[in-house]
Amino acid sequence: MLPRTGLPANAPRATIATMTTIRESTEADWPRVWALFRLAAAGGDVFAYDESTTEETARKLWFDPPAACFVCEVEGAFAGTYYVRPNQPGRGGHVANAGYIVEPAFRGRGLAVTMCAHSLEAARQRGFTAMQFNFVVSTNAAAVRAWERCGFAVVGRLPGAYRHKELGFVDALVVHRVL
Ligand SMILES: CC(C)(COP(=O)(O)OP(=O)(O)OC[C@H]1O[C@@H](n2cnc3c(N)ncnc32)[C@H](O)[C@@H]1OP(=O)(O)O)[C@@H](O)C(=O)NCCC(=O)NCCS
Repeated sequence: MLPRTGLPANAPRATIATMTTIRESTEADWPRVWALFRLAAAGGDVFAYDESTTEETARKLWFDPPAACFVCEVEGAFAGTYYVRPNQPGRGGHVANAGYIVEPAFRGRGLAVTMCAHSLEAARQRGFTAMQFNFVVSTNAAAVRAWERCGFAVVGRLPGAYRHKELGFVDALVVHRVL
């Protein structure tokens, strides 16, 4: 666990939650979302999108309709973002897809779980009946743990499907839950 800035190390999560807000993004949020996306992509350990990803591509995935983008703020500071969008067009459009990134300085304090829980409700409100993550890197321990905590099941394992920057070919997971 990272230290919880400004709070005693044993501060209860309820206290943290009162200072955390999640809201739908506005145009003014895009530069921060893009910077965080670029950082995560450049890491080469969590997303198929890599350092060559253009701003236009990232925006199409994360920010522009049919995606709905949300930002998470802790005491007013930008702490993370997620999107919800249809996983497939047409006859697959009732299943949501989502993506999440937490600012490095805010990791390890439950924000992925908080954002995921929020996204499940956002997806329900938009009429989705299930949520699916198509490509969770198996070595991304925090993500695997967070999605498990949010009620997702690993329904598929794609051997060597991800070319990890440091580890080489590692498995990717298909993760799913009914809403
Ligand atoms: C994955 C990510 C979203 C997790 O965010 P986070 O806010 O740090 O996660 P949480 O604090 O909610 O922790 C989730 C769980 O993982 C555990 N965890 C956190 N960091 C961990 C680590 N490095 N190794 C193992 N477990 C870890 C936490 O303890 C928690 O489990 P618990 O509730 O049983 O204690 C964040 O690391 C990130 O933004 N990574 C880059 C983008 C990314 O990977 N997105 C997801 C792609 S599928």
